[in-house]
Amino acid sequence: MNLVLVGMMGSGKSTVGRLLAGALGRPFYDTDTLVELNAGRLVRQIFELEGEAGFRRREVAAVQEATSGDGRVIATGGGAVLNPASRALLRLNGCVIWLDAEPEELYRRALRQGAAARPLLAGPDPLGTLRRLRDERAEAYGAAAHIRIDVTGRTPENVADEIRLRFAADKGDTEQCRT
Ligand code: S3P
Repeated sequence: MNLVLVGMMGSGKSTVGRLLAGALGRPFYDTDTLVELNAGRLVRQIFELEGEAGFRRREVAAVQEATSGDGRVIATGGGAVLNPASRALLRLNGCVIWLDAEPEELYRRALRQGAAARPLLAGPDPLGTLRRLRDERAEAYGAAAHIRIDVTGRTPENVADEIRLRFAADKGDTEQCRT
């Protein structure tokens, strides 16, 4: 079974995913990184040259690639779950965990990581955009996820530990992750 992290920009998917993969000795896949490697360009450049639609097409392929093996930890881009086929793929052999946080916290984290890398936050009101996107997407995250974790005020280490311990307690057999 794969462990899949979904959620908004700034929720810590990539950082938590990397920590979790290290702690569990599992390979780590990040769909944004796969998109960039396959395109030979940064996400920001893909948005500029191909628009959001071009990026989303590449993202579907990256989800297919990331979910093509087993025993992986997979971090997804914030919008990956909007595509129903991607959602189904992520759940097929995956335990999907939604890292959720208050918009203010997402905003602080996204800024710290450099908002320039995130084309969707390039407008005049990034906090408002995060609020709107989180509202619009809540249903898709809920439909994609087996488990929701509120990460507001928590460190990535602490969140990765919680996920690891939950799965250790279950011996990976994850009642909570059955579809
Ligand atoms: C996006 C989130 C980004 C990246 C792209 C679009 C989104 O990934 O895929 O900028 O639609 O929320 P992160 O969630 O890793 O920032």
